[in-house]
Amino acid sequence: KIENGLEELKSSKELYEFKSEYLEGKKSKISGLMKEMKNIAPEERANYGKSVNELKEWALGRFQKVEEEMKERELQKKYESEKIDLTLPAEETAIGNLHPVTLIRKQLIDIFAGMGFEVYEGREIETDYYNFTALNTPQDHPARDMQDTFYLSPEFLLRTQTSAGQIHVMENKKPPIKILSPGRVFRSDDDATHSPMFHQMEGLVVDKNITLCDLKGMLDVLVQKIYGEGTTTRLRPSYFPFTEPSVEVDCSCFACGGKGCSLCKGTGWIEVLGAGIVNKRVLENCGIDSEEYSGFAFGIGLERIAMLKYGINNIKLLFGSDLRVLNQINEK
Ligand code: PHE
Repeated sequence: KIENGLEELKSSKELYEFKSEYLEGKKSKISGLMKEMKNIAPEERANYGKSVNELKEWALGRFQKVEEEMKERELQKKYESEKIDLTLPAEETAIGNLHPVTLIRKQLIDIFAGMGFEVYEGREIETDYYNFTALNTPQDHPARDMQDTFYLSPEFLLRTQTSAGQIHVMENKKPPIKILSPGRVFRSDDDATHSPMFHQMEGLVVDKNITLCDLKGMLDVLVQKIYGEGTTTRLRPSYFPFTEPSVEVDCSCFACGGKGCSLCKGTGWIEVLGAGIVNKRVLENCGIDSEEYSGFAFGIGLERIAMLKYGINNIKLLFGSDLRVLNQINEK
């Protein structure tokens, strides 16, 4: 019975149960046999005891052997199940993609770096002086109003434009200057195309004999690189306190090639950024001789460029973290 029983055991758990049933403790079968001693005729007892002991010895030996075999078998099974097939194709893991605003930011930095611009990251908390006064913004300009600007204290505010960085750069560096300043800006503004926080990229070039033609030439290259060959720009007069003259820059509609479509509302042109020749007063505020030097500056809204390029009609979609939106824009 022991022999057959042992053969049928399937796991070491069953083996140990079997052992305690037959061989261990007072209630085991072997103890039962020993207890039978009293019912055996006295002259038979010595023989009986010897046989039972031999049986016990034998059973323990068998048990040990089966235990070893069992352990070996279970180890093999474990190895088998843990075997790794290195030739299997790897499970695909989603690595995600860059956010559309990050894509545009990277793309623009690449383009401008190729033209010799250096990146200067300004500060998000500014004083009224850097964000407005040094940029020639009159005390009563509506942008200073509590409606548009987030004031942290009478002295500090969240910058409303990366133009604030222009001043820091010009205070610390003599021309030639060629910098690009990307970063977050903040305005009390909230609708389908405006968000209280968005990203701008400021460009500033100051050197001898810089004119609007230099700006226009650079912008043409820029829009061709972003929106494709054949895209051009046109400048419309505008107003910014820190540039004179100031221009609003349109690019020819890349969706319809300038013929007129829903994207450009039939005009063939799309407004992409603000720019101008740096106001002499701003140069002077930073200790740069405005007779010797001139410059141009431009400010690009990154969300706007991303929305146009990827056909996104609500700026909130860019900040919603909705993967159904973000997964559609899958560039490296
Ligand atoms: N700072 C301007 C804005 O936020 C953009 C701009 C930058 C215009 C540089 C002209 C020159 O709208």
